[in-house]
Amino acid sequence: MPTLEVKDLYVSVDGKEILKGLDFTVNKGEIHALMGPNGSGKSTLAYTIMGHPKYKVEKGDILFEGKSILDLKPDERAKLGLFLAFQYPVEVPGVTLFNFLWKAIQANNLDSTSPRIKQLPKSVVDYKKELLEKIKKLNMSEIFVYRPIGVGFSGGEKKRMEILQMAMLKPTIAFLDEPDSGLDIDSLKIVADVVNSVRNPELGIVMITHYQRILNYIKPDFVHIMLDGKIVKSGGPEIVEKLEQEGYAWIRETTAEAAD
Ligand SMILES: Nc1ncnc2c1ncn2[C@@H]1O[C@H](COP(=O)(O)OP(=O)(O)OP(=O)(O)O)[C@@H](O)[C@H]1O
Ligand SMILES: [Mg+2]
Repeated sequence: MPTLEVKDLYVSVDGKEILKGLDFTVNKGEIHALMGPNGSGKSTLAYTIMGHPKYKVEKGDILFEGKSILDLKPDERAKLGLFLAFQYPVEVPGVTLFNFLWKAIQANNLDSTSPRIKQLPKSVVDYKKELLEKIKKLNMSEIFVYRPIGVGFSGGEKKRMEILQMAMLKPTIAFLDEPDSGLDIDSLKIVADVVNSVRNPELGIVMITHYQRILNYIKPDFVHIMLDGKIVKSGGPEIVEKLEQEGYAWIRETTAEAAD
């Protein structure tokens, strides 16, 4: 049974249809790269899977381990092990990452005895130890976890803090929405190293990106191209190379031919 399965999904936002019959499957242990031009619906797919109230499912289904999650609230989906690192990380004045993450982990610990939850720290002492270890790996000062989330952080610092949350929450399926955007060359390598270090057979990753560079560090098993609300091409990493050389015109032509 697939871990996460998206079936013939149609989604609208404020009355505008954005996803138009999207099919997509990701399993634990796999790394998928999701690419596509600006506005093709990549972030919309990630938000819809997380249960953002703005995104209305008009048709189709989203299944987690065979069960529909359409009726679940965002926090219930998060407890199942779904995670999203935002394209534009939010600022939360007045809340530190230290407190926010510990609350999230405690809520997870209360609710379930799944193998994923068993890996989460059970005491604040263990939590703090792990958090400080991980922040060190990200080459950031621990000061960041005691400051209000995102407030006054640089773009790259925000992105690294999102990866820290993923590493701590140990999701089953993680969407990383352009984790490479705004990162300098060294930070990109650091983020990639952390993502690689959390790779394991219990974690599936969907990485949304525009560029090949991050995929040189984090090798995807599958690459998908989205165009106008649908996945129109799937394959291996060879797709990325062709895309870098020829741009999306190549995909547009081949999908237009297929439609004729
Ligand atoms: N609230 C909204 N109201 C109207 N249109 C919206 C809304 N939110 C998103 N859209 C539209 O949905 C389309 C898909 O947006 P989305 O953010 O999913 O694209 P994307 O593939 O992530 O693009 P990018 O690569 O630029 O991040 C865009 O045309 C966008 O303008
Ligand atoms: Mg986007």
